[in-house]
Amino acid sequence: MGSVERPEPLRLGSVAPNFKADTTKGPIDFHEFIGNNWVVLFSHPEDYTPVCTTELGAFAKLEPEFARRGVKLIGLSANTIESHGGWIKDINEIAGSDLQFPIIGDKQRQVALAYDMLDHQDATNVDSKGIAFTIRSVFVIDPNKKIRTILSYPASTGRNSAEVLRIVDSLQTGDKWRVTTPINWVPGDDVIVAPPVKTEEAQKLWPDLKIIKPYLRTTPLPKEKTSAA
Ligand code: BEZ
Repeated sequence: MGSVERPEPLRLGSVAPNFKADTTKGPIDFHEFIGNNWVVLFSHPEDYTPVCTTELGAFAKLEPEFARRGVKLIGLSANTIESHGGWIKDINEIAGSDLQFPIIGDKQRQVALAYDMLDHQDATNVDSKGIAFTIRSVFVIDPNKKIRTILSYPASTGRNSAEVLRIVDSLQTGDKWRVTTPINWVPGDDVIVAPPVKTEEAQKLWPDLKIIKPYLRTTPLPKEKTSAA
């Protein structure tokens, strides 16, 4: 292998790399943008691409729900902010949305590269117009600036904005109550008491604790006690 410098691979728990960039809402320093909030950063390889158009409209419509949970949305597309401006008009027209969150202008792919959003076959993994099939990631970042979730989607498959919100609910609710969430959990469903919590303590904390197996202990957690309340 050659000795080309590559950034450290990002993993869950890594600090989200800082960067300065132009966005449709003005220039930002990403760590300042995060501040004391949760952030969902999601990316697109190009403007005016069909699947991405529908995704941005859906995120714009769900933005009030993210905001209620203290989550700031920020998009990225590997094009200029001037181009983004025209695209946003189309997105709002098509989705009936009012897209207000910033979209980073990442024409030079500076942020996409720093966040390892490209795959190793980037040069060839393109459509007939040369548009990359990569740069379709979602990062959920917490107020400590730690990456808590990384998702990577193919260009063929639109993301699920409700699933991203569900992940935020799981992470925020888990952090608050020392619980984890089982398959297909939605706020209001039973949760799992986190393994480090001893059963004696769990029984005091959760009077309705169910010990299905010593390693699988669940409790009801009403929706009002979750971040979706
Ligand atoms: C799309 O959003 O439809 C798309 C994304 C990347 C490449 C081609 C199409």
